[in-house]
Amino acid sequence: MKAIVLNASLRKAWNTARLLKSAAEGAKSAGAEVEYIDLYDLDFTGCRSCMLCKRKDVERCHCYWKDDLAPVIDRIFHADELLIGTPIYLGRPTSRYFALMERLHFCSLSYDDYSNYFIGKINVGLFVSMNATKEFYDSLYKDKFEGYAKELEMLNGRVCLYPCYDTLQVSDYSRFNMGSFDESRKKLSREKNFPEDLKNAYQIGRDLLN
Ligand SMILES: Cc1cc2nc3c(=O)[nH]c(=O)nc-3n(C[C@H](O)[C@H](O)[C@H](O)COP(=O)(O)O)c2cc1C
Repeated sequence: MKAIVLNASLRKAWNTARLLKSAAEGAKSAGAEVEYIDLYDLDFTGCRSCMLCKRKDVERCHCYWKDDLAPVIDRIFHADELLIGTPIYLGRPTSRYFALMERLHFCSLSYDDYSNYFIGKINVGLFVSMNATKEFYDSLYKDKFEGYAKELEMLNGRVCLYPCYDTLQVSDYSRFNMGSFDESRKKLSREKNFPEDLKNAYQIGRDLLN
């Protein structure tokens, strides 16, 4: 069994990365071979509209643009589990997340009839970390992120969306102009909830391999 873990946050040791690392441990505990990739370390763009993936008689579900992402896309399509994480930036996933999705989705989409070329099955865990509280997420972001999770159904497996609310964005708020945040409330929420989030991420990484 193979699990691919993709971090679409550029911070390698903060909230999103920690959730993903915990999910990766869960996948390992279920016997998976895990590959962990920080997407911001790779050199790639979104779809270049080269149309090579739409040529007649070529291999499907393969991105022909030669850069760091193309081999990762191949490995995603051959994995059993995809664990992907993004922070919320201005109400959306990060630009790296979108660049990846353009490439992954487009090369598996038929332009003959808009069907899905991909016939395998990959279960997906989508981890989303944010400043927002659950209440804010539910009223403003939930529908949108359920839409991003739905897009991942193109991989024909189960998709588990995990929102991680009210994260700590910096370790010392007093050094920044971040007056809209109450540091002590944030820290309390972190202490109370983040260990549970990590446990849940572990379980998701493990369960999605069954
Ligand atoms: C450019 C930028 C935009 C952000 N926009 C939002 C936002 O719209 N909503 C939100 O809840 N959090 C927002 N955040 C906060 C992050 O989503 C949050 O701190 C997240 O947990 C960071 O993940 P990381 O620790 O993996 O980098 C933003 C952070 C940055 C840097």
